[in-house]
Amino acid sequence: MGLESIVKDEVKSLGYSQIQTDNGKVQFEADLSGIARTNLWLRTADRVKLLMGEFDAFSFEDLFEGTKALPWDQWIPRDAFIHVVGKSHKSKLYSVPDCQSIVKKAIVSKLQESYGIRGRLEEDGDKYKVEVAILKDKVTLTIDSSGTGLHKRGYRAHQGDAPLKETLAAALVKLTNWTPEHAFVDPFTGSGTIAIEAALIGQNIAPGFNREFDSENWDLLPRSVWDQAWEEAEDLANYDQPLNILGSDIDHRAIEMAKANAIEAGLGDLIDFKQMQVRDLRPSDEIGYLVGNPPYGERIGDKNVVEQTYRDLGKVMKDYPKWSVYIMTAYPYFEKCYGAKATKKRKLFNGFIKTDYHQYFGKK
Ligand SMILES: C[S@@+](CC[C@H](N)C(=O)[O-])C[C@H]1O[C@@H](n2cnc3c(N)ncnc32)[C@H](O)[C@@H]1O
Repeated sequence: MGLESIVKDEVKSLGYSQIQTDNGKVQFEADLSGIARTNLWLRTADRVKLLMGEFDAFSFEDLFEGTKALPWDQWIPRDAFIHVVGKSHKSKLYSVPDCQSIVKKAIVSKLQESYGIRGRLEEDGDKYKVEVAILKDKVTLTIDSSGTGLHKRGYRAHQGDAPLKETLAAALVKLTNWTPEHAFVDPFTGSGTIAIEAALIGQNIAPGFNREFDSENWDLLPRSVWDQAWEEAEDLANYDQPLNILGSDIDHRAIEMAKANAIEAGLGDLIDFKQMQVRDLRPSDEIGYLVGNPPYGERIGDKNVVEQTYRDLGKVMKDYPKWSVYIMTAYPYFEKCYGAKATKKRKLFNGFIKTDYHQYFGKK
């Protein structure tokens, strides 16, 4: 939530149109290749789902008939294991388990008819996750083409106390004007997520390059769709782009984790990680970008330490007027401690925590 406009920009730059944004979702039209390309390339979206259909339902019969009328047989093969999940909000059909079971029955009934199967479906093939989402009596049916959420890039084997979701870390980088010719620092790097996402962006590496997706196994999707998307990702990666990225942290265990994660991502040599307190930070570049997710001081007793950390950061960055500084925190008095008002602030959710992304633009 809060990232819809960034996801929209990403969808647009992949070349898709008819984009509509709504709370927590971005809807667009794509051809078959879009299934693979969006899964591979979207850095800030959680999942890519195929919109099978939308209709109003006020009774279980409406739900059954509306579901059965959709072309499930175009996507789901006869041996599929069909797993239905659901949610319902402000609707007559409020019992989610009942809705799930009706949707499953309707899909099974459709497939039995299409494939001419009399008895039960075997369901011993690949998994197809269908979602029934009902909002104000409007039913939306989707098939999940991603599998595990897209934030799971496959590189974060190690994580610290409060790791940032990879999708949010990518969004923090995308919200800056950083380009890979410039220096980039995350002085609160933890497990290294922001620095790693910056490196992936800097070298135009598809964030999904290191993982698998459910739709790679879809029998009814031509194999060439995924093959071409993987090939395109390989072609577009710019492994020769030099990077100047530093991740530092007060905690040496965090630095070990961040290094291991960067190696897992194949970026081991590209990012510098260093154990250091933020007050000791002295970038050598005149121009640069600092992006960080410092502690927020939620635990009792942490407040003074957190305030001191923000003061230290403000003091250091005062000597770097050409650096742009971006800090995400839920602490309401960040600017006071940092010693300057942010040029711009943007509300972002870090999980369920409402935060402000404080943006200080460097002098030109
Ligand atoms: C919220 S975590 C960052 C999580 C990170 N973005 C990730 O994805 O794993 C905050 C980090 O700031 C570090 N930290 C706290 N105080 C610090 C200080 N004074 N100087 C440098 N790092 C500090 C902590 O060790 C912790 O790893």
